[in-house]
Amino acid sequence: MSILITGATGHIGGTLVRLLDTAGHKTRAYVRDPARAKLPAATELRQGDLDDREALARALDGAEAAFLMQGNHDVAQTETMIAAVRAAGVPRVVVLSSIGAVVEPQPLMGTWFAAKEKLWSAAGPAVTFLRPSSFMTNTLWWLPALREHGHVVDATGPGRMSPVDPDDIAAVAAAVLTGDGHAGQGYTLTGQELLTTREQAAILAAALGRPVAVADATPAYLAGLPEPLRDLNAHLRDDRVAFLTDAVARLTGRAPGTFEAWCRRNTSAFEGIAV
Ligand SMILES: NC(=O)c1ccc[n+]([C@@H]2O[C@H](COP(=O)([O-])OP(=O)(O)OC[C@H]3O[C@@H](n4cnc5c(N)ncnc54)[C@H](OP(=O)(O)O)[C@@H]3O)[C@@H](O)[C@H]2O)c1
Repeated sequence: MSILITGATGHIGGTLVRLLDTAGHKTRAYVRDPARAKLPAATELRQGDLDDREALARALDGAEAAFLMQGNHDVAQTETMIAAVRAAGVPRVVVLSSIGAVVEPQPLMGTWFAAKEKLWSAAGPAVTFLRPSSFMTNTLWWLPALREHGHVVDATGPGRMSPVDPDDIAAVAAAVLTGDGHAGQGYTLTGQELLTTREQAAILAAALGRPVAVADATPAYLAGLPEPLRDLNAHLRDDRVAFLTDAVARLTGRAPGTFEAWCRRNTSAFEGIAV
């Protein structure tokens, strides 16, 4: 099967290319800079931007399936992707969305994903939406504060989230791209545990074998955040995104990875951070 993958220089797309390649599928990676693509030798590289309809349609031409993720929150990019998919007539499409699209009440960021899903659904092709919760790789966003201030900023207090390993999102994408019966479905993907920010920092500290300091976000810090992030943190703090699903296990046949396992695999990213 010939499958086009976007975001192949990133976490999910890169793992997805490797999974599909190992399973014997022909992979096409749609990348902006082929020199940055560290992918299996058999991967066909197609150069282009997600905002370039013609280049994307050319890359999609003849593909039997496609994994599409956006590089921004702009519906113009969604419209470009829809036009390219229609022009190329790709029969099977998996779109990366977000848990925010189905959380009620909806965070501001969730309304963006819901708007994009609505466009896809109205456009005709029966796509499958993957709606992951917060990525375990978001832990890497702690690095600037750890380097600069020696602590993680806790903006979500007692609120719990269900971090999901991007490798599990890729595994679900591989299953959906190559299996039948997923058209028109939406899958909410979570990890297997509900954790506060402080609990995540404690798990990271145990994996690193040294403390990870945490400081509560000050009102001034929260006020300085861009509104969508402030709004998302408020939803998380109020425990409104604290739920688990069995979708990863159901679709891949194995339990989702734990946050501890992700931390153990990624200790090198935190080397040299003094706390
Ligand atoms: N973080 C979360 O908790 C969360 C939750 C739900 C959904 N999401 C969604 O997940 C996606 C990010 O996934 P990820 O972590 O695997 O990505 P990532 O590692 O941050 O990589 C982003 C990928 O997108 C590519 N890209 C960005 N803009 C592009 C453009 N204009 N044209 C072509 N390629 C472009 C990048 O290519 P270059 O190498 O060329 O930059 C890179 O391969 C986003 O769509 C986000 O909305 C995130």
